[in-house]
Amino acid sequence: MSVGIIGQPLSRVDGQLKVSGAATYAAEFEVPGHAYAAVVRSTVASGRIAAIDTASAERLPGVIAVLTHRNAPKLAYREHHGFTDPAVGERLHVLQDDRVHNQGQPIGLVLADTLEQATHAATLVRVTYATEPAITDVSHVEAVEPTHSETLQRGDPNSALGDAEVTLDQAYVIPRENHNPIEMHATIAAWDDDQLTLWDKTQWVHNTAEELAAVFGIPTDNVRVISPFVGGAFGSGLRTWAHVTLAALGARVAARPVKLVLSRRDMYYGVGYRPHTVQRIALGASRDGRLTAIVHDGYQETSTYEEFSETLGGPTRMLYSSPNVYTRRRLAPMNVHTPAHMRAPGQVSGVFALESAMDELATALHIDPVELRLRNEPQHDESSGLPFSSRSLRECYRTAAERFGWSQRDPQPRSMRDGLWLIGWGMASATYPVHQAPAEATARLLPDGTAEVTSAASDMGPGTWTSMTQVAAETLGLPMERVRFVLGDSRLPRAPVHGGSMTMASVGSAVQAASRRAREDALERGGGSDLVEALQRIDQPVEASAEVGPGDESQHYSMHAFGAVFVEVAVDRDLAETRVRRIVGAYAAGRVVNPKLARSQCIGGMIGGIGMALMEHAAVDARSGRVPNANLAEYAVPVHADCPPVMDVTFLDEHDPHVNPLGVKGIGELAIVGVAPAIANAVYHATGTRVRELPITPDKLL
Ligand code: MOS
Repeated sequence: MSVGIIGQPLSRVDGQLKVSGAATYAAEFEVPGHAYAAVVRSTVASGRIAAIDTASAERLPGVIAVLTHRNAPKLAYREHHGFTDPAVGERLHVLQDDRVHNQGQPIGLVLADTLEQATHAATLVRVTYATEPAITDVSHVEAVEPTHSETLQRGDPNSALGDAEVTLDQAYVIPRENHNPIEMHATIAAWDDDQLTLWDKTQWVHNTAEELAAVFGIPTDNVRVISPFVGGAFGSGLRTWAHVTLAALGARVAARPVKLVLSRRDMYYGVGYRPHTVQRIALGASRDGRLTAIVHDGYQETSTYEEFSETLGGPTRMLYSSPNVYTRRRLAPMNVHTPAHMRAPGQVSGVFALESAMDELATALHIDPVELRLRNEPQHDESSGLPFSSRSLRECYRTAAERFGWSQRDPQPRSMRDGLWLIGWGMASATYPVHQAPAEATARLLPDGTAEVTSAASDMGPGTWTSMTQVAAETLGLPMERVRFVLGDSRLPRAPVHGGSMTMASVGSAVQAASRRAREDALERGGGSDLVEALQRIDQPVEASAEVGPGDESQHYSMHAFGAVFVEVAVDRDLAETRVRRIVGAYAAGRVVNPKLARSQCIGGMIGGIGMALMEHAAVDARSGRVPNANLAEYAVPVHADCPPVMDVTFLDEHDPHVNPLGVKGIGELAIVGVAPAIANAVYHATGTRVRELPITPDKLL
């Protein structure tokens, strides 16, 4: 029997395919006879297209067509709100009218025989704009409450702040950050009569099928989406963006398949980004460090045509005990394209502000930062009144502090040195909610004693191919090599969005249920207790499907994963360059299906957090809305040399019987939360300078 496959640190079943280049990503599929597309983008932030001259582009050899709002077919654009789309507003209707909403908006599409011809021709399209005043500077916008307000108040935070023995009131700023996966977004579209096939980079094949069906006014069943491998996404592939529509539109006009691969620059103008946020945190506390009031009031940029809104105060409502709490978020609509979810959306931003403020409060009170947090541990979720399904945050603090050596810390800023380097130690809490959505899976057992288990899930990197094989193998009682898990095709049983750290909770639960059912069926039909022998006796495939969704557990329990992150930085005394030397994280995320893959997730989160804390900033030129650093030379992300030699990850042994059948809480997003504030807090400890606006670049420390 293969009991115990779940929990083993197995290597990726698709690892060899990936390192040998045999894994096929969206742009790499061989679709015979395809043409290439290049996008023409607006160079102003607001206005109308007064004239557009495509003649010289059209004359170029190899050019098949140049589409603009003047000649592009009118599209149905039926209403379609996927789970990840903004709840209010209309998505960009591409090439349907002369309106320009933002810099970089697609306003034309060139189709040609070769990529070079398409790219060159796109540069020859001449556009005259009737420019209108644009708002591209968040400090010039009146922030407004979103249509679906999330303002929450308990107690009377304002008078509690007035009465508090110690108070703190600060603003924390995170600039726009861009998704920068290695794989660029890409789509190959092919029509066969009114049947559309898309090879696409996406975190949700069914959503892409539904969106394109809605855009073209055809039945969803007419659209097939294939996406077996995703080279990183972080949330940029949750929605179906305009370039997917453009590829399909191009293929229809060209009457042949069309491949559209975004350039790195294109990636900054239409596949989302983490919105610029400004957050005010006010804390009131007693002298012995008990919180009496928390105010968390933030706003963020969004486009003029959609309300993209993410929780900022979510963690603030349940992380610490406080009788008086106020959280609010507002939106600043601007002439920018719509932001999107980006790894731990909202949570990572909100926790940066809250955990920076908690560190400032610890300093003001002369209380150790860990001790301050322990003094404010709640007994239950004070925002909902519900008990936590499990909450092992105390153990996370203790484990990470011990592994880090926190007890050796001298609380005095600038007290620790290593030659010319100022050394700082900082910490922060991490939390992320447990989600689950309905998912379907099918398990098919074959007479030769092997199994194929399928669900239309995605794998943007966490290792879905592998972890689902583990769940299926253990449940079926078969060894890993006898089980094949298949994902990434909308013809497969429906899976939810590959996001919100809920793939294992959702798809894993369905895979487990389908596998259990198939095994039981086979044993019942074949007799005996050995599955392989039973299958031989039946001598034909045994198939079972399952659909599993959340139960009513969220009405009885507050369900969250927790973690604690400790960081050592070194700041150059003269040049103010910050280097991260060590990160120690302890995480309580329920059951861990594959500790090797989970550790990789945490290392990725730590590196993402280093980028957020020290480097990442998609600059927006307030005159034009242009992103001048829309490339990987000037938008800095951590490289190997920026990553510390010590990235120490511990998973606590946490058994949570309430969250879902597998007892998993999700890890991918939890792993980035808390890293940036831990670094900012360590930089304060090293230098005595508190930086409240990310990224912490040398100019802010000199
Ligand atoms: Mo994640 S932002 O849910 O891909």
